[in-house]
Amino acid sequence: VSALVKLPIALVMKNKNAFYSVFFGNKARKKLGELFQSLPQKSKHFILVDSHSLQHCYPNLLELEARISQNIEILEVNPGEKSKSIATAEMLCKVMLELQADKHSVLFNLGGGVVSDLGGFVASVFKRGITYYNVPTSLLAMIDASVGGKTAVNAGMYKNQIGTFYPPKAVFVLPEFLETLPKKELKSAWGELIKHGLISGGIFWDEVSKTRLHSSFIPQDDLIEKAIAVKVAVVKKDPYEENLRKVLNLGHTFGHAFEGMALNSKKPMPHGIAVAIGLCVESCIAYYKLGLTKENLAVVFQVVKRICVLPQIENTQVPILWQFMLADKKNAEGEVLTVLLSDFGKVEWKVPISIHDLQLGITLYNSLA
Ligand code: GLY
Repeated sequence: VSALVKLPIALVMKNKNAFYSVFFGNKARKKLGELFQSLPQKSKHFILVDSHSLQHCYPNLLELEARISQNIEILEVNPGEKSKSIATAEMLCKVMLELQADKHSVLFNLGGGVVSDLGGFVASVFKRGITYYNVPTSLLAMIDASVGGKTAVNAGMYKNQIGTFYPPKAVFVLPEFLETLPKKELKSAWGELIKHGLISGGIFWDEVSKTRLHSSFIPQDDLIEKAIAVKVAVVKKDPYEENLRKVLNLGHTFGHAFEGMALNSKKPMPHGIAVAIGLCVESCIAYYKLGLTKENLAVVFQVVKRICVLPQIENTQVPILWQFMLADKKNAEGEVLTVLLSDFGKVEWKVPISIHDLQLGITLYNSLA
């Protein structure tokens, strides 16, 4: 089974801020200030942070929330995936109870993907659900994790296995937070940004593919806004990932496998870079399976090479990667189902592939890397 998506991105772009209550830049700051002032005064409210966002981003919000600071408590977790656990979620619920949180309490998630996934999960289960807002501080969280209502914690080493669909009431994107990020993290997020471009095609892909990355790797505001608009357009159509939302997994079937293999050999790889390599390998598979043209394939490689050096993949690694791909959540009835591009802005999902297809794709990838 496969399905084709051609997104009406032009339509989305007309009024990109009006969707899904994602506020950007000055408007976000203004709306957030108004929100802080209108929070129910008798209830306690919370800002979830990690040590990074507490140190570098929270001071930026202090002026906005000063007027109600007596009602606001800071909840701090350690940075990193380890905090995305049921134990941390339970601890947060208990602390909120001790601090007299009630049904009208509001939670603000100020941080990257770990904070928004964890905080969203806590908000979805605490007293069967309280209101929450995301204030993403990483590029990856701005264009992906903070939008779309997927919340999750990990089950041991298995990522995002315990979670809910529970959207934030609004998302406030303040691009100045990106200045606090290490270059490595920004580069990695470009993997997802390139993916959004490929899914959308059209003008947005033109802009992404022609962008000359300057040394900071901070994208232009406009590019961030449009990337968010692509994600919003997809999740609005299919919030529970029954069909269309699967397109957001472009590059991820191989990317997750590559990430898993790197982790096993104790050389962890940033998620977005694994996705970027996945975009190249999967485009090679799409060349054989869906007739993606050689010219388009070359453009994908050219754009990805701006953010990372593409490693050669050894033949001996193919069966290991295949094992990881067999464990992918998108599969059904023992088949590896991928999301592949037939053209810029045209994506098919649920495309079955075999280890032979993978091998062919990797051989072509190695010749272009
Ligand atoms: N990060 C993929 C999604 O939100 O569906």
